[in-house]
Amino acid sequence: MDDLNLLFSAVPPLLGWYRLHKRDLPWRKQRTPYTVLVSELMLQQTRVEAVKERYVHFLQRFPTAEALADANEEEVLKEWEGLGYYSRARNLHKAAKIIKSEGFPQTWIGVRALPGVGDYTAGAICSIALGLPSPAVDGNVLRILTRLLADGRNTDDIASKKYFSKRLEVVFPKEAGEFTEALMDLGATVCVPNGEPMCGACPWVSICKAHARGEELLFPVRAEKKARRVEDLSVYVFKCGEKYAIEKRPPGGLLAGLWGFPIVPLGLGEPYMKQGSLLATKKAKHIFTHVEWRMTGYLIKVDRCEVDFAPTFAPLTWATPEEIKARYAIPSAFRAFKEWIE
Ligand code: ADE
Repeated sequence: MDDLNLLFSAVPPLLGWYRLHKRDLPWRKQRTPYTVLVSELMLQQTRVEAVKERYVHFLQRFPTAEALADANEEEVLKEWEGLGYYSRARNLHKAAKIIKSEGFPQTWIGVRALPGVGDYTAGAICSIALGLPSPAVDGNVLRILTRLLADGRNTDDIASKKYFSKRLEVVFPKEAGEFTEALMDLGATVCVPNGEPMCGACPWVSICKAHARGEELLFPVRAEKKARRVEDLSVYVFKCGEKYAIEKRPPGGLLAGLWGFPIVPLGLGEPYMKQGSLLATKKAKHIFTHVEWRMTGYLIKVDRCEVDFAPTFAPLTWATPEEIKARYAIPSAFRAFKEWIE
């Protein structure tokens, strides 16, 4: 059977399987285009388990696009705290303002033009919220399709996503949203990313070419990954009475515009160490997409809420743990040191 016919024949069993086995996820209840937008932005680069509670909480706080549009950016960032990739929160906020004034877009082009929405997210939103035949192809979908078809193209090549999107467009059923979510669920629960797939539970077991050859693990074919850059850093947590020093991170670069503790390349911290008395140290690391931070943290007690810095940093803000908790979004990269102040 050629690939397109095989793909056609794969649709009905997939939809049948999905109706029986779909995951019970909070964003699959009471949907509006806005709630789909929120969930799809939250789910970018973030695991389903990490999103579940945060999604519910976010919608309690900002139940409509209008409510989100009317909030200020600090409030939105605070609600996003710990989820990472904070540009998503800023983009969602901007998108809400557009939706408030112009209504929710009704076409793929219109959805794709919203801030923070790329091809994958546009496909997911359009199929799930608007019922359009718009594929959403990510690494999970590439995995299940390259296995089904035993297709050995390099899936890290951007042309591969385009290729499979075109193929899916041709076979898209009228149950557009279910089809998109069925592909996602098959990749997440059966044809899993790490380790052996559960072929015994797969609706495609009798038609999957990779399975027929016992070659499931040979697909998808991927390019070699580049190593992450490692940065060695010192983090300073200054304590003055009940207050701690935080700074707004500079625009541009990692965690731009969020709040954190003063952080400098390892070896540049000597002037900081002399500001007061050292109470504790600890090491932590945080992994970003392209960079790994290896941090050594210093908890330092100072007598005045003032630190004379070498000119590396903008003025510090002194705040109590309660104030920090209520008002300042401190990303998870600093989690180990936040524990010191909690
Ligand atoms: N990942 C991205 N979008 C998703 C969705 N709607 N359901 C489950 N996982 C997803």
